[in-house]
This record gives sequence, structure tokens and C-alpha cells, in this order.
Amino acid sequence: MKEKEIICGFSKLTKDQKLNHISTYFENPADFISELKSYYHDDPDKQKIFDEFSENTVSNFFFPFGISPNFVIDGKVYHVPMVIEESSVVAAASKSAKFWSDKGGFHTEIISTTKIGQVHFIWHGNIEKLRTLMPDLKDRMIERTSSITANMIERGGGIVDIELVDMTDKIDGYYQLKATFETVDSMGANFINSCLEEFAAELREFFSESPYFKEEERVCEVIMSILSNYTPDCVVKTWVECDIDQLEGIDEDLSGEQFAWKFEKAVQIATVDVHRATTHNKGIFNGIDAIALATGNDFRAIEACGHTYAARDGQYRSLTEVTVENGKFRYTLTVPLALGTVGGLTTLHPLAKKSLELLGNPGATELMRISATVGLANNFGAIKSLVTKGIQKGHMKMHLLNILNQLGATEDEKEKAKVHFEEEKVSYNAVATLIENLRSPSKTEKAVYAGK
Ligand code: MEV
Repeated sequence: MKEKEIICGFSKLTKDQKLNHISTYFENPADFISELKSYYHDDPDKQKIFDEFSENTVSNFFFPFGISPNFVIDGKVYHVPMVIEESSVVAAASKSAKFWSDKGGFHTEIISTTKIGQVHFIWHGNIEKLRTLMPDLKDRMIERTSSITANMIERGGGIVDIELVDMTDKIDGYYQLKATFETVDSMGANFINSCLEEFAAELREFFSESPYFKEEERVCEVIMSILSNYTPDCVVKTWVECDIDQLEGIDEDLSGEQFAWKFEKAVQIATVDVHRATTHNKGIFNGIDAIALATGNDFRAIEACGHTYAARDGQYRSLTEVTVENGKFRYTLTVPLALGTVGGLTTLHPLAKKSLELLGNPGATELMRISATVGLANNFGAIKSLVTKGIQKGHMKMHLLNILNQLGATEDEKEKAKVHFEEEKVSYNAVATLIENLRSPSKTEKAVYAGK
């Protein structure tokens, strides 16, 4: 492959020119171009939609869009769209959904729905004077943003509060305006950021114009204005519960009580051990990210927030809690989820629109309930496997198809391999050997004969 050099003006090139340029780094440029073009949408108008989501786009990167059926959430049935590349995730969610569907399903509660934005500024002056003037400043900021907030207020949202936070013990002269917003069914990033930039402009004017400040107090250096992806007050709780007797038969080697005990220990371990907690929570986000992607939500924001929340008492811990008491098993996930069902990609991506339609066009709080539930379902499935037969058995069965595809197996070979691995342990080598055997039995037989 040729050495990479700095490319000037790449963004100004047409899509074909970009593709041609990048193709020169490949052994076979024509093959690269044809491979990438094979993923273009047949309909140029639809392709344009995807091209315009981002910059410098040269093709589409496909991910599987699957359905996890039979979620009973607060008594309502959902078939949940999930976009994820990892095998076993949709299967695990579906199995958990089915398992809980005849045990009362999942129950949810919205704890809170507000989001935070901050204007970070440096100022050297009399804080008591500023505190006294805060109500006036707040009114001015609310007035200044009235054209931005009008629609949101009509939909039941808007600015909830603006507080002054003194951070001077951390950084000399550092203060924040910490604003709380209700953004109803939108994730609200643009709305919040637009309000914050107006607050910042008002703040500067306030300091420079107000007669109450001395000359040296008139300078306010706004460092930045941005929403916080940490939303500990936009939280949903989801749980399942059943009699321990109902766990009987969940595993052939464990009684219901033994299963509940092992499950409880696994969750306790994820509460006290940071290495296990990270993997445990990753399993929760397998489900949450998949539905976030399917509905056009920002999974990076959701993940960042969830992990911070998991560390809110100073140590990173499991986001789930289990209780096994008085013959009852109860498993709960509490997670912050700043989601939207209007605006942004949720209304632009054609498949996000279909996902939301399949879910019955939920509002943001309903989507919070569904998403958290899918996270809990995935985590329940993972822990159930881990404390019983281990995850590799099921995982490798699902992974079998990936290995077969890597080996270029035909449909007939895939069918034979599926039957063969009903009983055998799946590994890359075992699958490769089987395929080799199927393709040239005599060669393998000879190798076996020669003791290789
Ligand atoms: C794999 O994607 C997720 C798990 O590792 C989660 C867990 O260990 O709890 C199975």
C-alpha cells in the first residue's frame, strides 16, 4: 500500500473524486471503488439523505437491523427494533423478553426528565453582589431567549431554572450558570445549546452595562457554553419480579433458589468490583445502544452519561440491583436516558422513522421505558448464561455463521455445519477443519492418516 500523504482540500472534492483519491491507497483501486459503490442505495434521492448526515461520505456502512419481539412493558406488548453488529445480543434480549412475558413482564417508572446546560465563565468580583443580582439576570436571560423557547413552552417544556454555581475553590474566578431544561420529546441538544449561547451573551452585557459593578468587575470571560451529557435528573427505572419458585427449571442443574443465589452474587460482584462492573454495564448498553441506533438517538451521549452515573458515589458500579427476599426475586435497572423521538436523526433517518412507528410512535418518556427495559433484558440474559452454562456455548453457536461466512461457506456447507455443531464445540479451527473436510474429504483423511 502506498504511503499516505496529507490531502489538501479533501472536503471540496466531489464524492467520486474522494473515492478515487482514497482508492489509490489500495492494491486494487477498481475493486475498492466497486466494493464501496455496491453499498450505494439504488435510489439516488435516498442515497443523498445518507450522504448528507455526515461529511466526506464515500459509501454506506451497513449494520444489521433486527427485531426483538415479545417485550411486555407495563402491560403493553412491543416488538423492539435493534441495530447491532454483535451476534447473540438480539437473541439474548428476545429470550429474556419471552421469559418475563408470562411473569408479569417488565415494570417501569420515570423518575425525572430534566437536562442540564452550563455557561462556564471566569470573573473576579463580589460574589454576594452577583448573587443579589441573579434574579434580575435570570429574568433578562429568559426574556432574551423567548423566541427560542416559545415552541418548546407550547409543547410543555422550556427553561426550568438557572443557578449561579461558585467553583472558585477549584479554579480561580471560575463560576457557572447551571441551567435546567425540560425538552419534552426532543433530546434537546440544539435547543439547550442555543439558549446557553444567548445566556452567555446576556451575561457579558450584564457585567459590562450594570451600574452595580465596579470597573474591574465588568470583565467576564465566557469560556464555553454547552449542554452536559450527564443527566442524573433524566432517569428511568425498570424492573422484573417473580416468586423464586417461578425460576425453577431456568437451568437444568440449578434449583430456582440456587439460581437466585448465584444471580445475586454475580450482581453483588458487579457492585463492588470495577472490572466486573464495566463488563456488566457493557451488557446493559448492548441493548440500550442497539435501540438508540435503531431510533436515531445519540448512543455516545447515552453511554457517556450511563457510565458517569454508574460512578456517582465515587466508585464505578453495576447499574442494576437485585433483591432476593421473602421468596421473591426482583431485578432493577436505574439509568439516565436522555432520548428524543422528534427532531434530529429520529425524523431524518428513514429506518429510525420506521423503528419509531413499530414502537407505536412513542414520546421520549415511553422510549426511555422501552430502552431501559431492553438494557435490563440483555443484562438479565447475560447474567443468566454466565451463572449457568457460561456464555460461550450460546455465543459461539451464534458466531458460527460469522465464521462460516469468513470461510466463504456455501449454503449447503452452512446447513451441514449447523447440524454438525449441534453437538460439537464451535471454534474457528473446528469450523475450518469441517469445511476443509467437506470440500476435500480425501485430503483431510490423508492428513488424519499421517497423524497431522
Ligand atoms: C458481551 O457483549 C456482554 C457480556 O460480556 C456482558 C456480561 O458479561 O455481563 C456477556
